[in-house]
Amino acid sequence: MKIPPVKGTRDFYPPDMARRNWIIDGWKRVSLRNGFEEYDGPIFEYLKMFQIKSGDEIVEQLFSLQDRGGRELALRPEITPTLARMVNQQINSLPKPIKWFSVPRLFRAERPQRGRLREFFQWNIDIIGVDESTADAEVIFCALDYLREIGLTPDDIVVKISSREMLAALLQSIGIGESELEGLYLVLDKRNRLPADAFEEMLAERVADEDKRKKILELMSVESIGQIGDCLELTDAAKESVDELGRLFELLGVMGVADFCRFDIGIVRGLAYYTGIVYEIYDKASELRAIGGGGRYDDLLKQFGGPAIPATGFGIGDCVLAILLEEKGLLQKQLPVRKLDYFVACVDKVHREGAIKLTMKLRSAGWTAGFSYKAAKLGKQLKKADNQSAKKCIIIGRELVEKNELVIKDMATGEQELVDYDKFLTKCTESK
Ligand code: HAM
Repeated sequence: MKIPPVKGTRDFYPPDMARRNWIIDGWKRVSLRNGFEEYDGPIFEYLKMFQIKSGDEIVEQLFSLQDRGGRELALRPEITPTLARMVNQQINSLPKPIKWFSVPRLFRAERPQRGRLREFFQWNIDIIGVDESTADAEVIFCALDYLREIGLTPDDIVVKISSREMLAALLQSIGIGESELEGLYLVLDKRNRLPADAFEEMLAERVADEDKRKKILELMSVESIGQIGDCLELTDAAKESVDELGRLFELLGVMGVADFCRFDIGIVRGLAYYTGIVYEIYDKASELRAIGGGGRYDDLLKQFGGPAIPATGFGIGDCVLAILLEEKGLLQKQLPVRKLDYFVACVDKVHREGAIKLTMKLRSAGWTAGFSYKAAKLGKQLKKADNQSAKKCIIIGRELVEKNELVIKDMATGEQELVDYDKFLTKCTESK
């Protein structure tokens, strides 16, 4: 009986693994150069941790289980609650600001579709302890620093930015009560993914009053920060968050990434804990689901039993990113080609031991080296060297016994040279 992989999961064969590692290595490299330190937590946590503040959508998608002691657990669908728990645990001793990154393997029981699976990897960047929009700008820059490095341009991707604080102030000025906001955010978050009539139907279930609904629809169709004032009179609270958004855009300009960024009032985010600036990264053609998303969550650590401490960060998944890179032809050409530095072949069976010995010495000196498992004719061994994309082939033959020399063949040019065995080994060891 053949058993298929579980729905929504992936098997990573070596070429897939090479792609995954290339993406993740880039995430790590860019995190480190932007001053973030790596952390990780357990793959499963107490179920209640994700029920506190992640929001209904994620709770519905949890893979939950009960351990043998009857504890209710869940596979992590995101790492932000774990981050809040871990930071709270050591809040007094951790130097501030906390700039941490992580690349967790996550699980969500979503309906598998293009770019959405049940198991995926997500790059997380978070700054805890800074309430200035410089921190929001820095994390957005960090995402773009990576995306730009791998070859994506403002023609390929866009960061759509808004503010939940601003939206809350605007909705409240329309007459939406504070307690209704969280439910309404969930509906507004779906607006870009639903046909207009389905969205309006969902909205009507949340907001019974038609005038309020009209105002909300009008508000959600503004295209610039300036237009908001034409649609509604700004309260002081709304003005403050509009100014904050303006400052953020200015900073993104200073950081040299303004070309990628755009205001979009439709960005609300599906997770419940966001409190301020929010953003999502999309492909410019809007054909794919979000590449990433994040924002400010100033209350989460307090809700997890810690002090009131501001926080901001994002998550970028590997699935949509890989699809986009593939579509743009950026993935394959950047993958490192697996190449052997040396393939050690021998002319005669009597030199096999010598070939194996030399291979192991080269490996210990840090070179990638291979040899033929079976005794074979030289021609066959050279073919193997070629199949394994060896850069150079070392041929051990009579010269070794007679003059302590080796033949080194450059596989690209076909050129051969005779070198002294000991000198070659010393050079190999020293140059690594
Ligand atoms: P999120 O918007 O739920 O945010 O996820 C961020 C990204 O993870 C998505 O844009 C997408 O690329 C990827 N992702 C989410 N679900 C799936 C899935 N089922 N399959 C494949 N990829 C997926 C968060 O998770 C927040 N915790 C991010 C954050 C960090 N906010 C602050 N700090």
